[in-house]
Amino acid sequence: MTQSEVEQIDKKYNVRPFIEAPLSKSDIEPVQLDALDLSLYKDGSEHFETRKKLADQLEKSISTSGFFSVVNHGIDVERFESLKAIAQSLLEIPAEEQGPYLAGAWKSDLEDRTKSVGAERGAGFKPKGYWSMRNGVHDSIVHYNLNNMLHPSFFDDSKNNHHPLVKAHLEEIAGYFRYLHNDVLKKITYLCDIILEIPEGTIWKLYYSVEENDFERSGQGAGRFMLYHNMKAEDEAKVGKNWLRGHSDSGGFTFITSQPILSLQVRDYFTGEWRYVGHTPNAFIVNIADAMEFITGGYFKSSIHRVVSPPEDQKNYRRLVLIYFSSPKNISIVDPEALDSPKLARLGFSKPDEWAKITFKDWYSIKGSLFGRKAVNDSNSDEPNLVLLYGRLHERWHQAEANFTLEEARKRFKVIEI
Ligand SMILES: [Fe+2]
Repeated sequence: MTQSEVEQIDKKYNVRPFIEAPLSKSDIEPVQLDALDLSLYKDGSEHFETRKKLADQLEKSISTSGFFSVVNHGIDVERFESLKAIAQSLLEIPAEEQGPYLAGAWKSDLEDRTKSVGAERGAGFKPKGYWSMRNGVHDSIVHYNLNNMLHPSFFDDSKNNHHPLVKAHLEEIAGYFRYLHNDVLKKITYLCDIILEIPEGTIWKLYYSVEENDFERSGQGAGRFMLYHNMKAEDEAKVGKNWLRGHSDSGGFTFITSQPILSLQVRDYFTGEWRYVGHTPNAFIVNIADAMEFITGGYFKSSIHRVVSPPEDQKNYRRLVLIYFSSPKNISIVDPEALDSPKLARLGFSKPDEWAKITFKDWYSIKGSLFGRKAVNDSNSDEPNLVLLYGRLHERWHQAEANFTLEEARKRFKVIEI
C-alpha cells in the first residue's frame, strides 16, 4: 500500500489524535505502582548486579500485588499517539460496519463454543454489548483483537481478515507488539529468572521464545485495542458501577498503556480491598496472569482487577487502552516442576496435588470461554460464581485466606463445573 493510499484511508476513517482526560481533582488516592526502569537493564555479566537490583525491586511487586509499571521501555510518545489515533477511529466504526470483521458472534451467550473461540480470543471486533453482566445488563466496551502478530503470516491476506484501517497500518501495529514481546517481555522474564535463582533465559526459552510459523511451540500474545463507552446510569446502578467485572487474566504478563482516567482497580491480594491504579504517563501497567502464577506454584500473584465508572470530572472522556496479553507456548505445562527453582523450593511453593497436569492451551481454551457467560457472572455479589477447572479455581479471590481449600470454597460459595 502506498503512502497516499494509507493517507486516504486515514482520512476516510477520520484518524486524529486521541484526547486523553485531564487528571481527576477528586479526593481518590490511587496506588502508585512500583516503576521498573528498563533503561537500567543491560546485558552482560559485568551488569549482573544492576539486573539483580531490578529483580529485587520486581520481586516485591509480583509476589504481593502482581502489578507494577514499566518506564523508559524504549517506545516513544509519538508511537503511542499514532496507535491510539488508529485505535480510536477503528473502535468508532459503527456496529453495522463491524459485521464482516467480528471476532465471534454478536453475543457471548449465542456463541457456539465448539466452533468459535469467541470474541475474547478471535481476531477482529468484539461489539458493544457482547458480554452478559449482572442483572440483565450488557457491557459498553468495543474491542478489536490482533492475533499471531509474532509470525510472518500476520501479513498474509489469505490467512487474515483485517479491517482496511488495520490493513493500512499492519507494519506499525506488528512492530509495536513485537517490540513489546521480544524486548520488554524478554527482559522481564530474565529478571524473573534472577528472582527464581535459575539461569537467565530459562523462562524465555521454555515459555516465550518464538519459532516462526510454529504456533504450538511459540510464545504468543494477543494485541487488543479497547475503548470504553460510558454506561447508562440505570445500567451502572445494576452492576455496582463495574464496567468490566473483577477477573484475573489467563496468560503470562499483560501490558496496558497507562491512561489518566481513574477506573482500573486492583483487588489487594491479601486484604481484598479495591484500590485505584494511578497514572504514569507513557508507562505500561503490567500485571501477572494465571499461567505465571501456576508456573511459580502461586509465588507470583495473578491478581483480580476490574474497571469501574470514573469520578464525575472525568465522565465526559473516554478510556482507550492498547493491551498486549502475552502468553506462554501452547504446549507448555503450567506448573512449577519444569523450572526446578531452588527459590520456590525454599519458600515452599510447589505443585499442589489437586492440580491436574495441564498445558497452557488446556487452561486458555476453557478459561477464555467463561468471561461473559451468564452462568458464571450472574452471582449475587461482585464475585462471579467460582468454576473448578483441572483442580484449580478459574479465579482465585480468596487464596490468601488461611485454610482456603477447595473443600472450604465449596462450603462458602457456589462452585460450578463446566
Ligand atoms: Fe484483565
